[in-house]
Amino acid sequence: MKMNTQILELNPSNSKSLKESNAPNVIQKGGLVAFPTETVYGLGADALNTDAINKIFQAKGRPQDNPLIVHISNFEDLHILSSNIPHKAQRLAEKFWPGPLTMILKRSESVPSGVSAGMNTIAIRMPSNPIALALIKYSNTPIAAPSANLSTRPSPTKAKHVVDDLKGKIDMIIDGGDVEIGVESTVIDLISDPPEILRPGKISKQEIENVIGEVNEVLGTKTTTSTLKPKSPGMKYKHYSPFAKVIIVTSPQECENVLQKNSLKKTKVLKYTDEVSMAKNMFSDFRQCDTEEYELILVYSIKGEGLARAVMNRLEKASSD
Ligand code: TXA
Ligand code: MG
Repeated sequence: MKMNTQILELNPSNSKSLKESNAPNVIQKGGLVAFPTETVYGLGADALNTDAINKIFQAKGRPQDNPLIVHISNFEDLHILSSNIPHKAQRLAEKFWPGPLTMILKRSESVPSGVSAGMNTIAIRMPSNPIALALIKYSNTPIAAPSANLSTRPSPTKAKHVVDDLKGKIDMIIDGGDVEIGVESTVIDLISDPPEILRPGKISKQEIENVIGEVNEVLGTKTTTSTLKPKSPGMKYKHYSPFAKVIIVTSPQECENVLQKNSLKKTKVLKYTDEVSMAKNMFSDFRQCDTEEYELILVYSIKGEGLARAVMNRLEKASSD
């Protein structure tokens, strides 16, 4: 059934006006509100309301075994969601929150298991976008939010992307302009010792090690088969994909060769000057290519840690099928 989706334009520098809006009320009543974070747009619902959580999975077409990240606006909420918080988690939170770091911790028994897809752990992050923080604060509850795209599609970096994927399926979309970063948060499992990075993001392994010492990285970049139980269930699914086929190229020579081999296909070449612009634009460019019905997208790879590594991880996923 199609529902009426309210679209609310808000300037991030005037996030106070969120308080007077209908958005907190929608969350409190168990509805779905898409909102900007500094990484990508999220699709939010009351993390403590099982019915609301179920609606997220439905609207996105998300596999039931893929757990959600719970977003908080103050440090006290960490202790509602998790117990026995390790010292290393405390230090990371102090250093990187609010910001693009998600920590996997032990889930408190008082938190409904649906948000974690039945796992006894919970993913928690405090975003830095003022609209996101205000929405959580005035809704007076932690907010579960995956990226606000249809499952398998590129993550949304503009409100328009959310409109394209979810209009008619959710209650409200807060348009707070383009996101700042453009790739999802770094996910780190603090239950393992040493802790393990499950998804690379802007905050690099090195930056994390500077705070808590040695960490491992276990990235299921290409494929993780269902027989191999992935640490982060999301890693086994197809992700971030445009409809066009994506091929990574490393040099003009290679690009030329691939172009020649595919001369009959409508092909787009994407080349970015640096990782910041690549992160900010790549998902949006993928969507634009779909709109213009490209069949093939060639993307130049980039090198580096942190954001460069994160955006290459998403590109590798988009190029694998
Ligand atoms: O930047 C972000 O993290 C964005 C914004 C909206 O905050 N959110 C986001 O959520 O990317 P989502 O659902 O698209 O990705 C969450 C990832 C998935 O790979 C999921 O499997 C993993 O985090 N995850 C969530 N809870 C987990 C848990 N308890 N254990 C292991 N992995 C978990
Ligand atoms: Mg996602």
